[in-house]
Amino acid sequence: MSSINIKNQFKQEVRRQKLIDLYQRVRDQSEEICLPLCMDDYQIQSTMETSPPKWHLAHVTWFFETFVLKDFVPGYLPWNANYNYIFNSYYQTIGDMHARTNRDVLSRPTIEEVYQYRFGINEQMVDLLTTFDESQWQKIVPRILLGLNHEQQHQELLFMDIKHNLWSNPLRPAYLDSHPQNRDSSAELSWESREPGLVTIGQDDDSFAFDNERPKHKIWLEPHQLCSRLITNAEYLDFMEDRGYQRPELWLSDGWSHIKNKHWKSPLYWECQDGKWHEFTLYGLETLNPSAPVSHISYYEADAFAHWAGKRLPLEAELETKLLELPIQGHFSDSGIYRPQAGVGQNYGSLWEWTASPYVGYPGFKPLPGSVGEYNGKFMCNQWVLRGGSCVTPLDHIRPTYRNFFYPHDRWQFAGIRLAEDL
Ligand SMILES: [Fe+2]
Repeated sequence: MSSINIKNQFKQEVRRQKLIDLYQRVRDQSEEICLPLCMDDYQIQSTMETSPPKWHLAHVTWFFETFVLKDFVPGYLPWNANYNYIFNSYYQTIGDMHARTNRDVLSRPTIEEVYQYRFGINEQMVDLLTTFDESQWQKIVPRILLGLNHEQQHQELLFMDIKHNLWSNPLRPAYLDSHPQNRDSSAELSWESREPGLVTIGQDDDSFAFDNERPKHKIWLEPHQLCSRLITNAEYLDFMEDRGYQRPELWLSDGWSHIKNKHWKSPLYWECQDGKWHEFTLYGLETLNPSAPVSHISYYEADAFAHWAGKRLPLEAELETKLLELPIQGHFSDSGIYRPQAGVGQNYGSLWEWTASPYVGYPGFKPLPGSVGEYNGKFMCNQWVLRGGSCVTPLDHIRPTYRNFFYPHDRWQFAGIRLAEDL
């Protein structure tokens, strides 16, 4: 073998080993998130938007089985023929599925069986990763990266759902017993102005990105300024004390109907005890830190706050243009602190930022071919884009082009408010 061939083979083995290491690391992280849970916690589904942790662990495994092993291992036999029905989330082209709202009735398979499922699929995945022919790299690897990014999205969902599940228990149990230090000062609020101009957003290169981030395209931005940091609890309290939740003129019509129907008078997880505000966190009920960014805010609340402040929410292109100029640094789940902190960098991480941009396909958007085309595109209706990542997002999951999306009434995700203003 020539020295060039040996070099190439070595390069191929290194990149293959890197992929195997990445696969194992991401899969391990999901299990690590569940380590503080007791057995009963795995089964809880406190509201229709959430899923039991056990279901998350199985569903992400089903994703690898369905979209990698079945597609790329000749003659693959399913681990359990029933799992396709109970762990399919929303892929209509794959087949019928168990109702999302009733995932908590799945007391079987047991959590032990779900872990066996995970380990069994991991073995077969590592086998595939070790042996697949280099000529298939372009076909298999994007699918594996999709599976890994999908699992990272479910890692964030695990934190969100575990928090909601624990909060729904009147004993308000904590996910973790420690209390990370709470800083008591936030940075001074300032404004950064932006010239008008044609900007380019979206993704076109070969690196991993979801289909909803593609293609790259141009957008005209009018002159505007962006607030230097997220809105704090203290600033949100000013809005509440100014009767923010009682003044219909501040609210979108749908938002006003929603807060009246749901009797919302504060952000999710806030509780007033003896005249003092507290906030439920993954560390249990804590005294509200006025300097920390206000979190678990719906689009309706973010918009009403902006209206009250005489500002507006940013457009997604405005945030992406800013993020493209900055290193990806901030408060992510890798820090091990699973609540937003006062005074830390808030461009990336900390909290997802609601934008005033509807979640629709970019000009030229094409869903991925096949069943994985159901991943994003079919949800482009009635939802709004959020940007930047949060304290429960893994650092290596985020990109400046990343588009998260939720319904305007959703607020169990780690979402906050950044303001913008036209100039
Ligand atoms: Fe999923």
